[in-house]
Amino acid sequence: MVIKQWQVNPSLRVAVIDDSQEYAQFAADCVCRVLQAKPAAVLGLATGSSPIGLYKELIARYKSGRIDFSQVRTFNLDEYVGLPPEHPQSYRYFMEENLFRHVNVKPENIHIPSGTNTDLSKEAENYAQLLATYGPVDLQVLGLGGNGHIGFNEPGTPFSSRTHVVQLAESTIEANSRFFTSKEQVPRQAVTMGVADIMAAREIMLLASGEQKEQAIKAALEGEVTPQVPASVLQTHNNVTVILDPAAAALLDCIK
Ligand code: F6R
Repeated sequence: MVIKQWQVNPSLRVAVIDDSQEYAQFAADCVCRVLQAKPAAVLGLATGSSPIGLYKELIARYKSGRIDFSQVRTFNLDEYVGLPPEHPQSYRYFMEENLFRHVNVKPENIHIPSGTNTDLSKEAENYAQLLATYGPVDLQVLGLGGNGHIGFNEPGTPFSSRTHVVQLAESTIEANSRFFTSKEQVPRQAVTMGVADIMAAREIMLLASGEQKEQAIKAALEGEVTPQVPASVLQTHNNVTVILDPAAAALLDCIK
């Protein structure tokens, strides 16, 4: 495995990995390490393209008896408003298809906000309460929006935010329209864990690949810490691993 790793500062490690299989293995190693130390760990999970390879690798390791989810509890970052669990683009459906139905995580230990609750602020409040009850999250998996969002915390979201209902940014609707038949079908709102909920995790793993993420990665890791770039808050966390491919890492100075 040829992996380049930098301990940028005591709180931040960056790994740059070209091969997608090795990338997934490296990310899965982080999850395995956490579960070995604490079999009843709480995992914070993301949807989207970025974690798909990781989830495939976790499924393979589960099937070969190398990882056990029987005591694990999971919290997903977000869900689209208006999409029921059986909708193929709902994040509940994504998680079932890409991870949960292939491993032995107990259904009652899975938490994903509901996007169809008629009282969405109550839904957000209940989710924040569940996080308070079962948290903190031991390992939070994050993808990164091209506009710097984490979860669906769009630019401008206060760092103090807890689980809440958001209006999706135009650029997010545009980016996510690739999963829908047309842009019009992309929901305009979502329920998302807040920035403060994400930052409460003991450890954070940020996954990003592709040239379309290079600016956001640069701003997040080396730019000003500002709510205008939600992921920049990660510079103030004490245990972050960023896993990139060379394209997403292209603008970083800290690894040169
Ligand atoms: C997904 C989420 C989002 C995505 C981000 C990147 O649950 O919260 O922040 O991680 O939009 O998406 P991909 O990985 O599809 O590029």
